Amino acid sequence: MSRIVITEFMDERAVAQLRAKHDVLYDPKLVDDAPRLHAEAAGADVIVVRNRTQVRGELLAALVKCRVVGRLGVGLDNIDLAACEVRGIKVIPATGANALSVAEYVIATAMLLMRGAYQSTADVTAGKWPRNALSSGREIGGKTLGLVGFGSIGQLTAKLARGIGMHVIAHDAMIDSSNAVFTQTGVACASLDELTASADVISLHVPLVASTRKLFDATRIAAMKPGAVLINSARGGVVDEAALVAALKSGHLGGAALDVFEAEPMPAGGVFAGCPNLVLTPHIAGVSGESNERVSFMIAQRVLEELA
Ligand SMILES: NC(=O)c1ccc[n+]([C@@H]2O[C@H](COP(=O)([O-])OP(=O)(O)OC[C@H]3O[C@@H](n4cnc5c(N)ncnc54)[C@H](O)[C@@H]3O)[C@@H](O)[C@H]2O)c1
Repeated sequence: MSRIVITEFMDERAVAQLRAKHDVLYDPKLVDDAPRLHAEAAGADVIVVRNRTQVRGELLAALVKCRVVGRLGVGLDNIDLAACEVRGIKVIPATGANALSVAEYVIATAMLLMRGAYQSTADVTAGKWPRNALSSGREIGGKTLGLVGFGSIGQLTAKLARGIGMHVIAHDAMIDSSNAVFTQTGVACASLDELTASADVISLHVPLVASTRKLFDATRIAAMKPGAVLINSARGGVVDEAALVAALKSGHLGGAALDVFEAEPMPAGGVFAGCPNLVLTPHIAGVSGESNERVSFMIAQRVLEELA
């Protein structure tokens, strides 16, 4: 029997599956209690985390017996992969299990931001009827969606977007234009500069690594089509937040949706106050009831296989 320490929320039935065979500590608040987390880490053969637990430095040093890190999600920027490799610790992400939730988030926010008419509830209930002011919203059918990063989430987002009549272009640093994925998905391969200049909606689906940090900085945001919409459900560090705020306030960009931030949780009174046509969500693009179930059971299954 192995000791499994789960530091963030996981579907309870998947936890029960692990508990049936192993000694499990499931405490979704453990991530917020560093001394207890480090103490519990010492006895763990397996640690299961989401994106908030930083598996590096002090925590990694405390994981003296650990053989496996289960990641309830796909981004691995909260895990020191090189140090895990040196220590012989296997890192298991839930590849693909939350892709549909993220893809639906992108389509939903793209529609909402392009149309710009769905935040009128307070005005309508107050009897203001702002019909004229809201009458020039944009449809997304026929518009160009630019995907930066064309892995599992990018490709699924393309499928949904094509289903509602969008023209989809994509740029991926590792996939060149001759790759069959472009013909298979009906998506046009574009350079990052072409995509930036021509897309009506740009959605980011890259990992946070050195080459993607501040990929959308002031210069790239300035090169976006006037009125375009930017959606970031990848990682906070990919977009320069101050530059985005300036572009929204100046009217150069038509809107933005951000699910991820340089600092999470975002401190109160941050840079985004007063930005027009902005949707902010607390890192939930990939988290829905269904995806939590898929992610949790996938990781439970993979952990059980590793311990068999
Ligand atoms: N907000 C959320 O809840 C949530 C949920 C899931 C994933 N994510 C984020 O979305 C990212 C993408 O997830 P995925 O499952 O599609 O990953 P993936 O590995 O399948 O695809 C990522 C793609 O990005 C490409 N890429 C890497 N560096 C690039 C660069 N410099 N320029 C262009 N492309 C580059 C890779 O070649 C790869 O094809 C994850 O790394 C994670 O950070 C967020």
